[in-house]
Amino acid sequence: MSFSKCASLVATCIAAALTSACVERTAVERGESLFRTPELSPSPTNTISCRTCHAPAALEAGEILSGGSLANVVGRPTFWGGRVRDLREAVNDCLRFFMRHPSAEGLSMDDEHGLDLLAYLESLGTGPSDAVPFTVPLDVVDIAPGDAVRGRALYDAACLVCHGAPGTGDQRLVQQAAVIPDETIAEHGPELGRAFTISKVRHAQFFGIGGDMPPFSLEVLPDDQLADILAYLGY
Ligand code: HEC
Ligand code: HEC
Repeated sequence: MSFSKCASLVATCIAAALTSACVERTAVERGESLFRTPELSPSPTNTISCRTCHAPAALEAGEILSGGSLANVVGRPTFWGGRVRDLREAVNDCLRFFMRHPSAEGLSMDDEHGLDLLAYLESLGTGPSDAVPFTVPLDVVDIAPGDAVRGRALYDAACLVCHGAPGTGDQRLVQQAAVIPDETIAEHGPELGRAFTISKVRHAQFFGIGGDMPPFSLEVLPDDQLADILAYLGY
């Protein structure tokens, strides 16, 4: 610990001594805070955190997360469905692709933030673990019609956090996330809007499409559930 940091900690301790215990937060605790706030990305337009797309353990009821659970992530042999072999690179990809991190280097796991985040990820389990399958269909084909009532709950679980309410965008966390389905239909028409939405959910910004939405694999959002969401959106 540097002298100035130590001195300020002592000052804080003296100030806090009368009312509460004086304990410096551990690396795991600091890492957990970073995991849950947008501050790991220096971009002023980033409003999301790791927790927007990942759960630290089992998913809570009513959550469908593109990045899934990170339980035992340190013990996984590969990441991103075998496309990435290095944990640091897997995290940097998320920072660059989804959290608007400006640097091509992304986050360095060697700096203070990186070490705290790593300590937190290690606290989620280090035992040997299987790689998590991550299947993204190459070709976007239409899917069978779904059910709008089921689709509402699925939309709320998977899309609402970023896009807000359909048709208005009310309470959206990400201002750059379009108001769906309206903006898509205005731009592409209903037929192409449906195909475009399937493509966006499966391929997101990849395959030359662009943007910064995350892709949903067939494992986290099977086709029948996507069909229900499309029905709820009126496609
Ligand atoms: C916008 C959504 C999103 C955000 C924000 C996000 N991730 Fe991800 N993350 C994903 C997706 C999608 C994948 C690829 C899916 C997969 O591999 O299961 C992924 C993969 C990963 C992986 C590899 C897991 C594996 O087994 O393949 C790690 C580790 C990871 N993310 C950590 C983080 C950390 C740490 C943060 C915060 C700095 C973060 N992610 C932010 C969506 C996100
Ligand atoms: C982590 C935040 C996030 C989540 C979750 C998310 N999106 Fe997005 N989405 C975005 C952002 C940001 C954009 C705009 C940038 C882009 O096109 O990638 C976008 C764009 C889109 C577009 C293109 C709109 C247009 O007309 O340009 C569609 C369609 C879409 N999302 C559908 C969905 C659906 C359906 C879900 C749920 C299955 C979903 N999104 C979940 C962030 C998100």
